Amino acid sequence: MSKRVITFGTFDVFHVGHINILERCATLGDTLIVGVSSDDLNHKKKNRYPIYDQESRMKIVQSLKFVDEVFFELSLEKKREYIEFYKADILAMGDDWEGKFDEFKDICEVIYFPRTPSISTTEIIEITKNI
Ligand code: CTP
Repeated sequence: MSKRVITFGTFDVFHVGHINILERCATLGDTLIVGVSSDDLNHKKKNRYPIYDQESRMKIVQSLKFVDEVFFELSLEKKREYIEFYKADILAMGDDWEGKFDEFKDICEVIYFPRTPSISTTEIIEITKNI
């Protein structure tokens, strides 16, 4: 049976850590579906808008050869709905989320990958601010 993998993220100021996790997620199955968090969701979560708007972030993610489907994640509370709607067999995330999505183990497999060390959107923004 072909396996469907789902993952979520902001993917702002796209960097190699994003590539690595998406590449790893893709190795778990045949179809990779990515929920790109909306601008409003980010504002709610972090009290600031992403540097790149949601259309740009989605376009970047969609253009990767190992990504098959993309959609906007509009609410953190809708993860279960998204997993069910996209018929995902596996939910995969970076280990900064370790344990946080175990509640979905009743409907899919949940896997956490180690983050790529020493890089994050937040750090890139901080570094470029100080140049
Ligand atoms: N990720 C990763 N390695 C990194 C950075 C991110 O594996 N060095 C993963 C996260 O664990 C998540 C996905 O990439 O599963 C999207 O993360 P996102 O929050 O969009 O990226 P960050 O760089 O972590 O952004 P921020 O600094 O704003 O939290």
